[in-house]
Amino acid sequence: MAQGFDHLLDATITHLEALKAEGARSVSFSNESVQILREMLQERRERAEPAQSNRPFAQKPIARETVSRRESSVATDAGKAQAADLVGRVADWPVLNAEEKLTAMRDLASRAGACTKCSHLVKSRSQVVFGVGSLDAEIMYVGEAPGLDEDRQGEPFVGKAGQLLTKIIQTMGLSREKVYIANVLKCRPDTPGQTYGNRKPTPLEMQTCWPYLLEQIKCIRPKVIVALGTTAVEGLLGKKTLGITRLRGKFDDFRGIPLMPTYHPSYVLRNPANRIKRQIWEDMLSVMRLLNHPVTSQQENYFTS
Ligand code: URA
Repeated sequence: MAQGFDHLLDATITHLEALKAEGARSVSFSNESVQILREMLQERRERAEPAQSNRPFAQKPIARETVSRRESSVATDAGKAQAADLVGRVADWPVLNAEEKLTAMRDLASRAGACTKCSHLVKSRSQVVFGVGSLDAEIMYVGEAPGLDEDRQGEPFVGKAGQLLTKIIQTMGLSREKVYIANVLKCRPDTPGQTYGNRKPTPLEMQTCWPYLLEQIKCIRPKVIVALGTTAVEGLLGKKTLGITRLRGKFDDFRGIPLMPTYHPSYVLRNPANRIKRQIWEDMLSVMRLLNHPVTSQQENYFTS
């Protein structure tokens, strides 16, 4: 029954997000349906773990409505307050088999690829940069937004910062094909009046794009998420955070999945001191240890001198 409910809930959220992607801004429920949903939600709450530590935007009261729009697209007044809880934690998410994952990810990629929610980005982008890697990845790397190279090639982290990320992944004994790489924002942020340069995604852009990343995470169910830079951490946690220098190196939590905040590779490129390289590498060693991946003494000792 619980699993049936979760499947139904997931299908409902996916359907609502598809409607939203197509431009719908509200849906109507009969009073009776709202009552049924309330009762189901109540039952589910009673089943769930009591502590829900990771509530996006929970720190600011103004953001409650933001959360409900961002996470479920349920726009009824009655649904708003509860909507933030509908996505739940990893233990509540349905486990998809390989075929279901492939279908879900293809469907999501095609919806994201046709997304027109941010009209300014639709105009400036060459293409949507969805994500790349294994749908069974244990580690998911999340960056900020595509840059020029990514916009041209349609793949995240393929420019200079991407080459460094690839090197880090390989040094961990992995490959881009074994992990999953995505961004908080799937379109390159526009830079009006400039033909080069990057800018940070705005909170509204990140919020608008959020359902795609959330669905990617739910489909893959990684064992660890590595958030590359402050923007990625804020995009994932849905709240303002301390700067990455203060956050890095300590696991946070994303709905029951350990989340390691670390430097964005472009920060390391701008600050190539051994101390910074060692810190990002220590964060990766922590990830490897958490996953019980063997760590060789050579790996252990990188950048210690
Ligand atoms: N920086 C990011 O955050 N993501 C990319 O895909 C490329 C550069």
